[in-house]
Order: sequence, then structure tokens, then C-alpha cells
Amino acid sequence: MQPASAPVLRPAGVPDAPRLGVLATQVFLDTYATEGIRAAIAHEVLALCSTDAFTARLAAARTHFIVAEREGHLLGFVELRFGDAPAPLPAGPAAEVVRLYVLARFAGCGLGTRLLAQAEALAAAGGATRVWLSAWIGNARALAFYPRRGYDSVGTTDYAFQGERFENRVFARPVAALPPRADGADPLRHINPDHFLDSPQGRLTTPERNALAWQQCHAALDAALRSAAPGARLYLMVGAQGAGKSAWVRRRAAGEPGAIFFDAILVQRIERAPLLAAAARQRVPAVAVWCRAPLALCLARNAARPADEIADEQGLRNVFAALQPPSLGEGFERIVEVDADAT
Ligand SMILES: CC(C)(COP(=O)(O)OP(=O)(O)OC[C@H]1O[C@@H](n2cnc3c(N)ncnc32)[C@H](O)[C@@H]1OP(=O)(O)O)[C@@H](O)C(=O)NCCC(=O)NCCS
Repeated sequence: MQPASAPVLRPAGVPDAPRLGVLATQVFLDTYATEGIRAAIAHEVLALCSTDAFTARLAAARTHFIVAEREGHLLGFVELRFGDAPAPLPAGPAAEVVRLYVLARFAGCGLGTRLLAQAEALAAAGGATRVWLSAWIGNARALAFYPRRGYDSVGTTDYAFQGERFENRVFARPVAALPPRADGADPLRHINPDHFLDSPQGRLTTPERNALAWQQCHAALDAALRSAAPGARLYLMVGAQGAGKSAWVRRRAAGEPGAIFFDAILVQRIERAPLLAAAARQRVPAVAVWCRAPLALCLARNAARPADEIADEQGLRNVFAALQPPSLGEGFERIVEVDADAT
């Protein structure tokens, strides 16, 4: 028999709703139906864990899901919701771990720790300064789990369902702000997936890290748009690797302090659409910056980069070939075309 592959983490989307609902039902009952199924438990689990309930939460603007998956099987998930911290926590941008669920069969393998760490990284990317959660006082494993991961017990609260109240313990831990970047870029305004792939060992790119880095970028963009100053613009950079996008951002950022830059390979309309929708929700006008360097120049610049930052050459050629020029019809206020000699 083949040895089982390692579980991977990835952001979840609406198509995951049925599997999330079933997984959550199983974990909820294992954890809370300790004496069997009462009517209140049955109603609560059916309401909270239905496919419709998960579909709604997966589509909600300030809620993010990360799942642990192996070969198409979900093993656990974390649900993180951005919002202000409630009393008794000090006011300020925060994120709540609404649910951290791992199937009992896979508990004790480190998945809970991995999911929680990734949720904390996502919270930091989204500008939260604190992560908090509440756990039922009868849930001994959870009460022991969080303090061992840096969480302080900060008080109690009641969780009410189906007319009953259950005492919960509130835990919280501060989240370190994203460190300033060596190139001077503000990580909450110059948003680039590469920034989340950097590690003390250099840039570390895997499909898992890449997918999570994009999720962090979306959280960062949401936070930046929500706190945008009146008159601020969102600049969406369009162009292949080596087309001069980041250099343009660095020059522009110095002269336009309130501006937000989304600096990624947004060569396809389908990649730009959710970013334009997020900007429209916050009424921040979006400008496309189309960096038009020729393929030969992109390839040469890419090859000259530090070894850990070089993109796969065929991948770069594919990106170049897939480019769909930005158009006003997508919702841009205007389009800035940047020629190679200007970058
Ligand atoms: C609490 C929970 C998220 C932890 O997830 P996990 O994948 O088991 O977490 P990890 O494997 O990273 O760590 C579990 C810890 O329990 C210990 N452990 C030992 N045996 C274990 C077992 N049979 N089952 C679970 N944990 C076990 C692990 O060694 C580890 O100890 P540590 O804290 O000293 O490192 C998970 O058990 C769960 O989903 N519980 C039910 C739902 C819940 O209570 N969620 C939290 C409230 S929302």
C-alpha cells in the first residue's frame, strides 16, 4: 500500500460547503453531545452546520476559511472572522477564531496547530492586532490547547443556543504586526503575494504557500480598502514577471502616500474581478497599471534575479501568452500604460 501523503492546507471556497458542513457536524457532536443527542443539540447542529449555513459564511466578506485536506478528503478547518475585539479585550482591529475543528480520528497529529498558526498569519495580514476565541468550559482539550499556543484566558462569556446558555472561556493573544520590508514597502499598502512567501531562508514557494499567500493578500486588501483615506486609489498592476510592476509601485508610492497597490500577476480578467468588486464595495476607485515590457526583457530581468526569486521560465512564457489587456469595461476608472523604457 502507498504511504498516505501529508495533508495540505488551502483556502476554502463555496464548493467546499457540503464537506465542511458534514465535517463540522461530526466534530460538533463528538465535542458537545457528550451525553447523547438532545433536541437543542440537534436543532443547533442542523442550523449551524448545514450546507446553506456554510455557503453563506464562505461567501461573507470578512470571514475566511482554511482547510486541511489529503487526497480530496477534508480532515479539519479553521474559520476566522475579522471585526473589532469585544469587551473585556481592549478595542482595536481583531480576528476571531470562530471554529477550529479537526476530525477526532486525526487529532493529535499537529493539524490543529498548523491551522491555528495559518489563521494567525492571515489575521496579521488583514491588519488584526489580536486573535481571540471562546471555548466551552466543558471542553477540556480546547482549554488546554490554546494556553500552550500563547493564548491568555481573559474572562468568560455565555454562548446561547436554543434558549440555553453555556459558559465559555475567552482566550486571546496579540498578533505581531507584519515586519517592515527591507525595500521600504508598507506591507499593508503594497500588497504582493511574494511578500508572504519570504522566509528567513529566502523566498519559499510551494503550491500550498502560494495559495495561502493569495488569501493573505485578499485579507490585506480588504483591510486597506476599509481604512482608505477619502480620495485614495487602488492600483492593480497588470503584467508578467519582470515587466516592471514593483519598480513602478515603489516610485509611485513615495509620491502618493494613501494609495493602495495590488502588485501581482493580474493578467486575466477573472483574477482582477474579485479585487475590483472589493474596491467597489468600499467605493475606492481602481486604476489598472499595464506594464507592457516585451517578453525578451521580462525573461532577461527574471533570469537576473536572486536564485530564490526566479520564476519558472515556461511559467513566465505562459503568463505572458495569457495576458488579457485591462479595459474600462471591467470597472477601472482609468488605465495607465507603462512602456518598458519607463520602468
Ligand atoms: C482542539 C483541536 C482543534 C486540536 O486539534 P489537533 O489537531 O488535535 O491539535 P494538535 O495535534 O496540533 O495538538 C493537540 C495537543 O493535544 C495532544 N494530544 C495527545 N493525544 C491526543 C489525542 N488523542 N487527541 C488530541 N490531542 C491529543 C497533542 O499531543 C497536542 O499536545 P500539545 O498541546 O502539548 O502540543 C481538536 O482536538 C478539535 O477539533 N477538537 C474538537 C473541536 C474543538 O474543541 N475545537 C476548539 C474549540 S472551537
